Amino acid sequence: MDLLASAVPPLIAWYEKNKRDLPWRRDRDAYHVWISEIMLQQTRVEAAKGYYLRFLERFPDVFALARADEEEVLKAWEGLGYYSRARNLKKAAERIAAEGAFPQTWEGMRALPGIGDYTAGAVLSIAYDLPYPAVDGNVLRILTRLLADGSNIDDTATRRRFSALLKEVYPVQAGEFTQALMELGALVCIPNGDPLCLACPWQGLCRAKREGRQTEYPVRAEKRARKVVPVDVNVLTAHGKYAIEKRPAKGLLSGLWQFPLGAAPPGGALIETQRARHVFTHVEWEMTGRLVRLEEEIPPYVWVTAEELKEKYALPSAFKPFFGWLK
Ligand code: ADE
Repeated sequence: MDLLASAVPPLIAWYEKNKRDLPWRRDRDAYHVWISEIMLQQTRVEAAKGYYLRFLERFPDVFALARADEEEVLKAWEGLGYYSRARNLKKAAERIAAEGAFPQTWEGMRALPGIGDYTAGAVLSIAYDLPYPAVDGNVLRILTRLLADGSNIDDTATRRRFSALLKEVYPVQAGEFTQALMELGALVCIPNGDPLCLACPWQGLCRAKREGRQTEYPVRAEKRARKVVPVDVNVLTAHGKYAIEKRPAKGLLSGLWQFPLGAAPPGGALIETQRARHVFTHVEWEMTGRLVRLEEEIPPYVWVTAEELKEKYALPSAFKPFFGWLK
């Protein structure tokens, strides 16, 4: 039997004993799996728990999400980043609701907005026990170690190849297997520092371990340096209200609300300045925030109270350092 096939049964046995009790593991509802997997692409398990529970309270099923206002969905997503994912959730929910149920085929899943190979595999395997792998960074790490495979994991071809290899060995407990792969990567075959090989169900199988080279995998492409961009952030206040505006429909943080950027409008009184930095995937903002008092609630901004701003509008986390100014 080939190495990968022989690695399946011990992994599943290990998972049954060691899996964490996570909110999205209480049932195998496709909606629950989908929401949790999209969130877990953006944040760590610990942070995802709270978002997940709040999201389900607000949008308990796919029909509730389909009916919701996009603005409300973005609000629930606030802080998770990549807001296009929240928009796609809403669009996909509308389609699923119109069909009456989740698709249970690869093609049906992949045709939904925001559902790529990873999410399609995760939902089909975890919710329906269909033999489709969900290959994320965890899975690539544990497999490149198991097989002592030096392929660049940032290469799409590598991901496809591992996906094809896994597909060959998928067991009938497909959902358990998908989650077991992720769980091993999260708990034992960890990314930073030394993996906990003594706790690993694959310790007798792992080629990297046998060669003592487990920290040399996975091999990654060199990271490109992030561009550092100076950004002037104007917190304009007049009569107890604050100016916000919508970002352009395309590009970084598209369509989200923000404090006005760039030169402050003339005639205001500068009260305070504060520097802050925010790191996105590809750029870094070096922000200079200015609290500026104006006499009038000038156009073209939308003027809102501090309470409205915090309760109703989805402002990206980048602007949170300036929330201390909102009274
Ligand atoms: N990472 C990605 N998906 C996960 C899941 N379902 N459980 C735990 N960690 C994960």
